[in-house]
Amino acid sequence: MSAPEKNLALDMVRVTEAAALASARWMGKGDKNAGDQAAVDAMRLSFNTLDVQGRVVIGEGEKDEAPMLYNGERIGTGLGPAVDVAVDPVEGTNLLAYGRPNAISVVGVAPAGAMFDPGPSYYMKKLVVPAPAKDVVDLDAPTKVNLNLIAKALGKDIEDLVVFVLDKPRHQTLIQEIRKAGARIQLHTDGDVAGALMAIDPRSDVDVMMGTGGTPEGVISACAIRIMGGEMYARLDPQKEEEKRALAEAGVDLSRIFTVSTLVNTDDLFFSATGISGGTFLKGVRFTGTGAHTHSLVMRGKTGTIRYIEAVHTWDKLMKISAVKYD
Ligand code: FBP
Repeated sequence: MSAPEKNLALDMVRVTEAAALASARWMGKGDKNAGDQAAVDAMRLSFNTLDVQGRVVIGEGEKDEAPMLYNGERIGTGLGPAVDVAVDPVEGTNLLAYGRPNAISVVGVAPAGAMFDPGPSYYMKKLVVPAPAKDVVDLDAPTKVNLNLIAKALGKDIEDLVVFVLDKPRHQTLIQEIRKAGARIQLHTDGDVAGALMAIDPRSDVDVMMGTGGTPEGVISACAIRIMGGEMYARLDPQKEEEKRALAEAGVDLSRIFTVSTLVNTDDLFFSATGISGGTFLKGVRFTGTGAHTHSLVMRGKTGTIRYIEAVHTWDKLMKISAVKYD
């Protein structure tokens, strides 16, 4: 037995809380860019207090388009371990802009080189299942076959299952197949990181997530799934000609099936998510007049410890020392 090591996730929760607190003011205002920018600014300021030599692997995009938290940006104090950083200051920018449930702020950290770099890939087909159904599904099997196998593994009838699907035109056939198979569906306009987390969380009503969403979101989800248990089977699924061309030029194998361990290849990882708009997964930021309450999910891969942290933030003290202005 060695002495307990530092749990970086307990510092990272301050980072996702800061982003959630700063962006929650934009809920329902219809301006997704302003909400995202507030979260990015707060997240960057807060992350730069962490003693790591961080490199953003999953960020806000390419440097030219994203002035901050861009892919390749160095963050942290520059002291401590070299790490890959996956950030999504607001996962579900439209959810926030229109006050819909499950906008969250998310950060994952792992040793340098551990995370899959999506390169020019934007979209990925995903099948996320909880631990008991981990080894029974096949990404290429017909929807009905997978749902039957998942139901059996969970000891349920197929009619009992709830499938999380993004409500996108590309999923018309998938939705019909799920309905035909007899399972129930939760359609969400956005937010498939929350969807993946709900699929593996036994406390949630969702049993499985199916369909195509963002590749960066897939890597972030993999960090959480690797810690919580369950599995994600995924394959790059380019949706636009430009994306197809860029992947072909880069010689990327579109037939490769990814699992959680190929998207993040270590248990030595840390994850934090804080609710912004609230919903079934994490409660949102609640402003109280004198401060705010936040709810976060904080996890460490090596120990498998999962914490749900409710924080009470009080403006009169916080604003004397914080570089981020929340009130
Ligand atoms: P943003 O927060 O970047 O708006 O992403 C929201 C999201 O719904 C993700 O959860 C999902 O992976 C992706 O967008 C799906 O992309 P699209 O809306 O283009 O289908």
